[in-house]
Amino acid sequence: MNDHAPLTRRTLFTIGGAATGAVLLAACTPGGAQDSGGSGDGGSGGSGLAQVSLASIPVGGAVSATLAGKPIVVSQPTAGHVVAFSAVCTHAGCTVAPQGKEFDCPCHGSRFDAATGDVLNGPASDPLPKLKAEVSGDSVTVTA
Ligand code: FES
Repeated sequence: MNDHAPLTRRTLFTIGGAATGAVLLAACTPGGAQDSGGSGDGGSGGSGLAQVSLASIPVGGAVSATLAGKPIVVSQPTAGHVVAFSAVCTHAGCTVAPQGKEFDCPCHGSRFDAATGDVLNGPASDPLPKLKAEVSGDSVTVTA
């Protein structure tokens, strides 16, 4: 029974090392760190930035992603112009979802403008907090 302890410890160490390597690789690979969005597995939970492929964002639409484990939305109102917002509804904290040129909240029906984050329809009264989004080639980097 005692031989299991060293194996377990080595396995944990290997997993930890592999995870660190994966994070570093992802951060250094242009276009290769696309967030799957909605997976919620916390894979990028410790990172203060999110990367999204520009091509994955429809012009006049938006996609969901995560930044430091929190839901965000990234939209492209016009070609090459990208804006990002927290996806946490300012009414009661549900996660809003892209819906054409809007972000819609499934909980109580609030709707936000995907280009500005402004409230289109309550009960929410405050706009979605804006984040920084930078386009570099085909890669969009979002930071708080
Ligand atoms: Fe979004 Fe209530 S939490 S409308």
